[in-house]
Amino acid sequence: MQRQKIIVGNWKMNGNLAFIDTITSELNNVVFTKNVTVVLCPSFIYLSALSTKISNKNIKLGSQNISEHSSGAYTGETSADMLNEMSVKYVIIGHSERRCIFGETDNQIAEKVKRALANGLTPILCIGESEPERDQQKTETVLSQQLQPVIDKIGIEKFKDVVVAYEPVWAIGTGKTASPEMAQQTHQFIRQFLANNNAEIAEGVSLLYGGSVNAANSKELFAQTDIDGGLIGGASLKVDEFKIICSTAQGS
Ligand code: PGA
Repeated sequence: MQRQKIIVGNWKMNGNLAFIDTITSELNNVVFTKNVTVVLCPSFIYLSALSTKISNKNIKLGSQNISEHSSGAYTGETSADMLNEMSVKYVIIGHSERRCIFGETDNQIAEKVKRALANGLTPILCIGESEPERDQQKTETVLSQQLQPVIDKIGIEKFKDVVVAYEPVWAIGTGKTASPEMAQQTHQFIRQFLANNNAEIAEGVSLLYGGSVNAANSKELFAQTDIDGGLIGGASLKVDEFKIICSTAQGS
């Protein structure tokens, strides 16, 4: 099965209007093959500005979060309806920074995935283990504990519209990348975990790797059987580097 290749640029709390001009003028002219999608995820406040600048049909708009609630007295939150109005198509959910810094729970994350799907948005569900967890050989247990509540909440069939990003916490922003073999092994575990629930669905899910991906290491990572693209933080802010990573995905 030909799975969709997806490259997500997670700008985190970086970027500005000038950067939006620069990156869109560089990326709009790139000719992508049909099976490559590039998702740009700025801060909420820039979604509208970025939306008006994207003219390449392979480039989609993504947000870095979503509220699990539909509307109401939730100061500082952003609803699915609001994201839809801004032409957002993808939503990063459960990034380790949301889990660790902002205390998001597995149940809340599962609610967010449900909310996104119910409103036609594609969730990019982030999972990953910390360094001590890997050292204690708990990686598979942790990943299972992060996936199961989402499966329980939405049902495995809905995973046909979910993207899963595996991001080992110890590799995020540290310059330490999982080796391609280690990343493949973990991606294979994730696909098998989903396959235990429904093999056909598992085969179609795009699994992204994230954590210090750059132009130099992307080729080997994306060449792995169960890696269908990347969730890129730091390197998504360097236009030339990000362009190379996007073109690497075309060839993988
Ligand atoms: P990084 O971040 O590429 O800077 O490691 C990845 C992420 O947090 O999504």
